[in-house]
Amino acid sequence: NIYPVILSGGSGTRLWPLSRAVLPKQLLPLVTEHTMLQETAQRARGQVADGVQFMAPLVVCGNEHRFMVAEQLREIKLEPLGIVLEPVGRNTAPAVAVAAQYLLAIDPEALMLVLPADHVIADVAAFHRAIAEAAVLAEAGALATFGIVPASAETGYGYIRSGAQVVAGSNGRQVERFVEKPDLATAQSFLAAGNYFWNSGMFLFRAARYLNELRAYQPAMLAACEAAVRDGYRDLDFCRLDEKAFAASPSDSIDYAVMEHTAQAVVLPVSIGWSDVGSWSALWEVQASDENGNVARGDVYLDGVRNCLVRAERRLVAVIGVQDLVVVETDDAVLVAHKDQVQRVKQVVDHLKQQG
Ligand code: GDD
Ligand code: MG
Repeated sequence: NIYPVILSGGSGTRLWPLSRAVLPKQLLPLVTEHTMLQETAQRARGQVADGVQFMAPLVVCGNEHRFMVAEQLREIKLEPLGIVLEPVGRNTAPAVAVAAQYLLAIDPEALMLVLPADHVIADVAAFHRAIAEAAVLAEAGALATFGIVPASAETGYGYIRSGAQVVAGSNGRQVERFVEKPDLATAQSFLAAGNYFWNSGMFLFRAARYLNELRAYQPAMLAACEAAVRDGYRDLDFCRLDEKAFAASPSDSIDYAVMEHTAQAVVLPVSIGWSDVGSWSALWEVQASDENGNVARGDVYLDGVRNCLVRAERRLVAVIGVQDLVVVETDDAVLVAHKDQVQRVKQVVDHLKQQG
């Protein structure tokens, strides 16, 4: 049986002005009427395959989001195994480390499925088949990753070079190299080489195995996370980490801290309709568009508009005679951008931060 561990700590700055620090991407209903967190929890619920079940999930999030996370799970009538609160953000490697320790205390054999709370997976049946297959590899001691066939030389992803089949009859392959967020030239060479996958950001492994890898590669992080759990406490609703201990942990992602170093990684190539909805154009792509290629949400008036994403939160938005635009209206900000330039939205957020 598999314990989902849902990481709900990011801030999704490229989806500004909708996604904000107080209300980040994963807590918003971006694609469906459910929030991304709710969608993630729903697809990791019930039966995975014959004889394999999902257990209740462990959610790891920032302290400031605790009530929203708890409320969103209640809305879908899901009782989590626990909601672990980070007093400060230390990135994903420590978040997964504290989750692994909670699980280990419950079940020494626990298999954990690490899931980002902000991805779209269109083919849930294929996703479940992949998890059942990866579980077999993880039970044998592997750190299983899920490889996506790359569509472009995207620099925001991890790249996995796949090697030989792990065992005959399995689709799992040895990870020969794991490179997190390469520069553009490197990403282009990986794409040309052909035997590289994008890392989907989901992982499946035994909790104990992950902690072993941390012991080998990030001993200071492991020590800090152990202390944070040991000196923390659990109340009715939340698992609270010791702030001082957790703050002392180095801050790093699981990709840099573990996956680039480990010799235990395997990759399972998958075709599950995956998107990390990392930008407004990605959000446009994963949604069903009308006959003119438009995706409209809210109180929107369109005339002679093609291939646009238009989103109105509060007011009526009228768009006339344009194409390939993203228009997003919220309470206090409006974004108008060309669809090919939406990566630059991140700079708006940086600019606003500088201004304070
Ligand atoms: N609880 C918690 N605490 N969650 C966090 C934290 C944290 O400090 N930091 C990030 N997260 C969550 C995010 O909300 C997201 O769901 C997930 O962890 C991954 O973090 P991102 O910050 O979105 O990582 P990324 O997109 O740059 O890169 C990762 O995902 C790519 C695919 O989308 C890597 O795994 C890449 O290798 C991968 O290609
Ligand atoms: Mg991401």
